Amino acid sequence: MPDSEHEHAPRGVDTTRPSVSRVYDYMLGGKDNYEIDRQVAAAALQVAPDAPQAARANREFLRRTVRFLAAEAGIRQFLDIGSGLPTQGNVHEIAQSVAPLSRVVYVDHDPIVLVHGRALLAVDETTTIVDADAREPEKIFDDPRTRGLIDFGEPVGLLMFGILHHLADEEDPAGVAEAFIRPLAPGSHVVISHFHNPGEAHPEVSKQADEAERIFNEHLGTGRWRTREEILAYFDGLDLVDPGLVPLPEWRPGPDDHATPGITYHTFVGGVARKP
Ligand SMILES: C[S@@+](CC[C@H](N)C(=O)[O-])C[C@H]1O[C@@H](n2cnc3c(N)ncnc32)[C@H](O)[C@@H]1O
Repeated sequence: MPDSEHEHAPRGVDTTRPSVSRVYDYMLGGKDNYEIDRQVAAAALQVAPDAPQAARANREFLRRTVRFLAAEAGIRQFLDIGSGLPTQGNVHEIAQSVAPLSRVVYVDHDPIVLVHGRALLAVDETTTIVDADAREPEKIFDDPRTRGLIDFGEPVGLLMFGILHHLADEEDPAGVAEAFIRPLAPGSHVVISHFHNPGEAHPEVSKQADEAERIFNEHLGTGRWRTREEILAYFDGLDLVDPGLVPLPEWRPGPDDHATPGITYHTFVGGVARKP
């Protein structure tokens, strides 16, 4: 790793170990990543050369779903779990382009997200960032920064883009999702995007998902490509909004959204649901 990278790394950021948010940043063409992250990205690209397309599809899914929540579901407060590094089209920018006073609480546990989040996101009376672990929902609910912006008596947009697949089976991701959803008011909406293993429906894609999972776990110690049933279970007790759980580019594409089905097309899915 070039010395300059060590010198320029913000305090608390470990450049000797890769991080999920920095590898993802690299896939999105960002600059907040280090040699160690680029090595992991290179290994992932061997298996899924179109991984950058999958990362972009996730951001496009975020753009369309947050817009839907703000413009059509009337959501004015958002809790974004595993928010990642700021990039183009952050949640508060999309929501506030529809409803200027929309409030957003970003949550992440990676120190680099907090450094850049504080610097780049408008941390003001409508937006904040909370350094917390998604596996501790109660701490996030009780945090004064969360309480300061979110009224839990009103509907909330709970956003879990690309985060639940970073929880291992033994960390009970369905239980974590349930713990976030349970306290929310009726009319709240939940958005999830998640790595997917299509199994026998697409055997070739399934093999690629297995291989990607192996590489992620070897280098990052995380990453689960779950079955459709496992992902649908996160939405238990909620009403899935049309078109249901689908490959990301198929969730209400606009006239200018043109996805090219590649190797990752069926391995990244998402959906939106309403709490009755
Ligand atoms: C793939 S990125 C997704 C970023 C953003 N949500 C998006 O979809 O564009 C996953 C993010 O989840 C964060 N993350 C992973 N495990 C976490 C945990 N247990 N608690 C909080 N954040 C976590 C990572 O630091 C990373 O920023």
